[in-house]
Amino acid sequence: MKIIGTGSALPKKVVTNDMLTEFFDTSDEWIRTRTGIETRRIITDESLLELAITASNRALEASGLKAQDLDYIICSNVNNNYVYPSMSCMVQGAIGATCPCFDIRIACAGFVYAMDLADSFLKTGRATRILVLAAEEPTRFCNWAQRETSVLFGDGAAAAIVEDSDGYMGARMTTTSNTEVLFQRKRLEPTPFEVEGKYLDHPMVMNGREVFRMAVSSCSSEISSLLNDAGYKVEDIKFFILHQANLRIIKGIEQYLGGIPEQYPTTVQKYGNTSSASIPILLDELVRANKIERGDLIVMSGFGSGFTTGSLLMRY
Ligand code: UT7
Repeated sequence: MKIIGTGSALPKKVVTNDMLTEFFDTSDEWIRTRTGIETRRIITDESLLELAITASNRALEASGLKAQDLDYIICSNVNNNYVYPSMSCMVQGAIGATCPCFDIRIACAGFVYAMDLADSFLKTGRATRILVLAAEEPTRFCNWAQRETSVLFGDGAAAAIVEDSDGYMGARMTTTSNTEVLFQRKRLEPTPFEVEGKYLDHPMVMNGREVFRMAVSSCSSEISSLLNDAGYKVEDIKFFILHQANLRIIKGIEQYLGGIPEQYPTTVQKYGNTSSASIPILLDELVRANKIERGDLIVMSGFGSGFTTGSLLMRY
């Protein structure tokens, strides 16, 4: 599998740390030192679907393909205001594609899982060109009365178009059923038979310290074994494109693996944690800044609710 086009789209509203001090007891200093985040983009009058469509059209344009050339659309999306139909179905019609499409919901690791699925579709000949999309609005998961989570997130969408080649060197996926460390419960319609209180909704609950610890240990060991098995060293990798959740998590993984800071590019400072969109947003920025060249080895690695992690190694 190789990437032949990327695109991204972010909301226009820039929210600084200082702006958040209006809503709860926090500070620019706390947010910067604990997370590295300085600003984030938050959806206002645009919709997540519009961002997803723009990101997909930009990826198509970069690839030189038409929407009709796509054989599949796979979209990573945790939440939007439709339970169904899927985000990928809505994007498909809007961009003028007619291929089958489906969504996956694997939280922040979703883009890596979607890329790995895309590779198996390409390898087995079930598709020749796939749009892999991530569209996320995590600012709508949070309880905005709570500073612990609301300061961390931003919204955004990004896409990559992939086609078959021998550049994909595999992936490692880990799922540990630790469902209490990070979850959100959605309201279900009541039935006359409902047991009261059983199906309550609840905004995001997170044990930040535990997520931090699991993220650093799981991603570090996953990437290490991926490189070992493929016979590569850290210095062979141009970029480790890691889920942008917290600068300290990225630094923790860098410390474990080694290498130089330039191999660990970041966008978390300006966009915050955009869930599964963070990896393709960063990828698109690197591509558009001409920082990645054909043949460069890249690693993508994400982690999130589940607890789920996924890491892949490929040539750009
Ligand atoms: O995509 C995956 C999503 N999740 C993550 O990536 C989260 C991973 N975890 C983290 O990034 C960090 O654990 C956090 C940034 C969430 C928290 O950092 P921490 O160093 O683990 O802080 P803490 O939770 O231990 O809280 C330290 C203090 C507490 O006060 P006390 O008990 O020491 O008085 C908190 O109440 O900081 C307080 N605090 C805040 N203060 C100002 C928590 N949130 C805030 C805030 N502003 N926004």
